[in-house]
Amino acid sequence: MKKQILVTGGIGYIGSHTVVELIESGFEVIIVDNLSNSSIAALNGIGEITGKSPLFEKLDVCNKSQLRSFFEKHAGIVAIIHFAAFKSVGESVSNPLKYYYNNLVSTINLLHFMKEKDIPYMVFSSSCTVYGQPDELPVSEEAPVKKAMSPYGNTKQVMEEIISDTLASTPSLKAISLRYFNPIGAHPSALIGELPIGIPDNLVPFITQTAIGIRDELKVFGDDYNTPDGSAIRDYLHVVDLAKAHVVALQRLLNKQNKENYEVFNLGTGEGVSVLEAIKSFERATGEKLNYKIVDKRPGDIEKLWGDTSLANKELGWKAEKSLDDAMLTAWKWENYLQKRK
Ligand code: NAD
Ligand code: WQD
Repeated sequence: MKKQILVTGGIGYIGSHTVVELIESGFEVIIVDNLSNSSIAALNGIGEITGKSPLFEKLDVCNKSQLRSFFEKHAGIVAIIHFAAFKSVGESVSNPLKYYYNNLVSTINLLHFMKEKDIPYMVFSSSCTVYGQPDELPVSEEAPVKKAMSPYGNTKQVMEEIISDTLASTPSLKAISLRYFNPIGAHPSALIGELPIGIPDNLVPFITQTAIGIRDELKVFGDDYNTPDGSAIRDYLHVVDLAKAHVVALQRLLNKQNKENYEVFNLGTGEGVSVLEAIKSFERATGEKLNYKIVDKRPGDIEKLWGDTSLANKELGWKAEKSLDDAMLTAWKWENYLQKRK
């Protein structure tokens, strides 16, 4: 029986890009997704890019009985890449139970079946949000996890703990948590990309929607931060680079190269970019002029955050390679494709 990789949330933004990289690296993939924050059109995109159609089941990972039948049907799964989660920071503040339920129960269910069905490996989507505003930059994996700034952020902290505790009690299980910084951009084909539902919270979809005329102007949240140009700084990472890191992390587990049962890696570029620099990059890469205005800071935003990625560089042999301009250009191509598809 061929070894299969289960990708939860594989129709979503980062998941769909990772599925492409997995297929292109020769893996057989099964996707489960309940399409709560994605469109099945991404499955066609994956098919067009790779020439292969991964198996897909519409399923809620929180539904234990559905999941049981799924694992009984698919006995060849050797590893899980777990993307499925809700991710809106603002919504998690207004509806914390929705976030605690979906993010925690899905992860607990998967760990349960990993134990029961002897599926030894998990790659888990964590986030730089676990660091809050760190005392030192760039922030390394050694930095203390600070009190979460939102229920969403707390779900990531608690899930990391749940995974680590479960592995400690069941040494046959191994996992890698990947703490992403700010993923942006799209596949160069522009056939898959980020699909914000409603008004985007994140910077780059807001930029592309403004440039294409869906939004009147981008609001730049604050220009009086303690940063060189006054706007806030983040570590923006091309989603294709991020997707590739999942393949490497998976191979590390499958090839038993992991040094601990549970490992954590930052995934970013290691470079901080301000909001105003991000706008300039978009304008340079696309030739579009962006209408923006400086407004007050967004409540709860941190001032500056970028990652120390030397551990991932050394241990995974992975480095972000694509440029910010390339990420902006692909995000723009994707926005144009989306508007045509409507
Ligand atoms: P996304 O919303 O595009 O993808 C998540 C997918 O999971 C969606 O397709 C959604 O339908 C599915 N899903 C959610 N709950 C489910 C459930 N109970 N059962 C089955 N499917 C379910 O989000 P994304 O940006 O691709 O994020 C993927 C992961 O990476 C998430 O865990 C997110 O928290 C994490 N992450 C994202 C970012 C970011 O900025 N995008 C940064 C750090 C971490
Ligand atoms: C980036 C910068 C904004 C929109 C979020 C989550 C975090 C993680 C990554 C998942 C900030 C500024 C934004 C706009 C703006 N996700 N901005 N105008 O805040 O780093 O983090 O995504 O784990 O948990 O909180 O990303 O894209 O929202 O903002 O000026 O309309 O752009 O103030 O400085 P953020 P973002």
